[in-house]
Amino acid sequence: MQNLTRLKTFIQEFTRLVDRIGDDEQAIFVSGKSLLQDLVLHDDWLPEDFAKADLNRYQQYLLHCDPLERFSIASFVWGPGQCTPIHDHTVWGMVGVMRGGELCEEFCVDDSTGLIVAEGKHLLEIGGVDLVSPQVGDIHRVSNSFNDQVSISIHIYGANIGIVNRHTYDLDTGNKQLFVSGYSNPSLPNVWG
Ligand SMILES: [Fe+2]
Repeated sequence: MQNLTRLKTFIQEFTRLVDRIGDDEQAIFVSGKSLLQDLVLHDDWLPEDFAKADLNRYQQYLLHCDPLERFSIASFVWGPGQCTPIHDHTVWGMVGVMRGGELCEEFCVDDSTGLIVAEGKHLLEIGGVDLVSPQVGDIHRVSNSFNDQVSISIHIYGANIGIVNRHTYDLDTGNKQLFVSGYSNPSLPNVWG
């Protein structure tokens, strides 16, 4: 039995946070990071339909979108060895690992050549939270760090991320392509009883 109250409480707390501090990214990171960390450290609430891996590609399930589209919450489910393209977000985002683990590789654009340059990489384990935005670093590639198990992370973004115009990047040429992610699911979890 899933403890959907945990997700409902998180939605309510995050809504209060955004009501209180608006789009002050740094303040959202400071307060929101601990809320997300607490959520992903209690793996008893995500319904199975939003935790299913797909053989072909990672899944991006919308769990909640703020009615004013000030933020959205999604579960990302990575099959063994799956990864994203190199991509940006254009808005603030937080990534918290709930099952398995993820390899996060950061990139930047070299203004003189237009090429994509690797900046660093790190492993994110259960309870780890990563931050992205145009201010703190916005281009990365995320992979399941396991080849033999599913990994799941919970993401929050400062917009309805599924409809945001974003970009993917080609590592060899620096070529930048428009990208709108959409969502993998047609319906949302019912947290309201
Ligand atoms: Fe990302």
